[in-house]
Amino acid sequence: QEAHALQMERTFIAIKPDGVQRGLISEIIERFERKGFKLVAIKLVVPSKTFAQKHYYDLKDRPFFNGLCNFLSSGPVLAMVWEGEGVITYGRKLIGATDPQKSEPGTIRGDLAIVVGRNIIHGSDGPETAKNEINLWFKPDELTNYTSNQEKWTY
Ligand code: TYD
Repeated sequence: QEAHALQMERTFIAIKPDGVQRGLISEIIERFERKGFKLVAIKLVVPSKTFAQKHYYDLKDRPFFNGLCNFLSSGPVLAMVWEGEGVITYGRKLIGATDPQKSEPGTIRGDLAIVVGRNIIHGSDGPETAKNEINLWFKPDELTNYTSNQEKWTY
């Protein structure tokens, strides 16, 4: 189990304002929980537009950037950090393709969303992004460290 602990990674997952307003919080959390991933931080926040621009900085030159930042800052966002082996890549798999028209059924976006501008959830796309996004959204003391009872049976 010590060996596994060394491979644990963390990712930033957020339910966007549309997912919160549509009452999809428990549905989405359930999918990550059932898989065996561990929730280590969670909070409901309304990001400012400036904050949204920081979060999506890499997309600043895209035509949809302004609308995207307005949307992200339009209401409560459920910000979370999930931990587990391979959680960055597999979290993206659970989420599905960016455009819900192209996401497979069985994925969060495939099952629960229709258009790209309202695709209900965000997940970090790599280790570097995960680290940056966790640091942007959470203070170090908001991140928990604990052993869940299930871990010895999950790994
Ligand atoms: P991106 O980082 O490319 O996708 P993902 O969220 O899957 O990592 O884009 C960020 C968000 O920008 C995306 O979730 C929805 C929005 N978006 C649009 O509104 N229109 C677009 O054409 C694209 C590519 C993204």
